[in-house]
Amino acid sequence: MSNQKTWTEVDDYFNSQLVPEKDAMNEVLESNSEAGLPSIDVSAAQGKMLHVLAKIRGAARVLEVGTLGGYSSIWLASALSKDGRLITLEASEKHAQAAKANIENAGLKDKVEILVGPANETFPSLVEKETDPFDFVFIDADKRNNPYYIKWAIDLSAPGACIVVDNVVRNGEVVVKDSEDPDIEGIRDMFDILSNEPRIDSTAIQTVGSKGYDGFLLAVVK
Ligand code: SAH
Ligand code: DHB
Ligand code: MG
Repeated sequence: MSNQKTWTEVDDYFNSQLVPEKDAMNEVLESNSEAGLPSIDVSAAQGKMLHVLAKIRGAARVLEVGTLGGYSSIWLASALSKDGRLITLEASEKHAQAAKANIENAGLKDKVEILVGPANETFPSLVEKETDPFDFVFIDADKRNNPYYIKWAIDLSAPGACIVVDNVVRNGEVVVKDSEDPDIEGIRDMFDILSNEPRIDSTAIQTVGSKGYDGFLLAVVK
């Protein structure tokens, strides 16, 4: 039973029962595909999970690292409290343009700001600007830089902030100690940081579904 076909069927079943928003959200995926973006967005069920987590947190200031076409941004921004805002960091001008159009179509233009540029430049700009602290951070960009992103995310977060990091399992490759894949090294270096970081309480959960075998880190800032 445990194979990709079954995982996708189970996701389809759950989504048909629990994720009525998926049809509108599929339009985002279609426009991304037309624009030639890679289909490495979170799944519908994962997007809805981010939405539910942001609501549980009562999130008003959300930071996302890695916008792509705005699929996860829209799931998060549509969960914001009335005056809530999402800032999302994206290196690719092309991806940011696609996201901007999708976010406008979703009626969320006034809630979302896209900062274009490599996150190792836009993150320090947020620190310099002394931006108000975030209460929810979703990290989903280039995995090799996760050690930097997790540190900045903690620095920029308020106590009680929720931090989610996507793709921390990568089909089990995370346990390959001597991996020479810089993305796996980045994920493992992030776990090394977290194992010695007193400011945060974390867990990591393995997942299967329409996007294969992967997982996410879930943490709360003390
Ligand atoms: N969160 C999106 C998927 C993001 S895919 C969703 O689920 O819908 C990863 C994104 O990170 C890509 O768009 C890629 O261009 C971007 N990215 C890669 N390196 C980056 C960097 N150094 N800074 C900011 N964004 C980066
Ligand atoms: C990749 C990136 C992601 O954020 C993801 O969820 C899946 C794959 C990638 O870069 O291959
Ligand atoms: Mg991802």
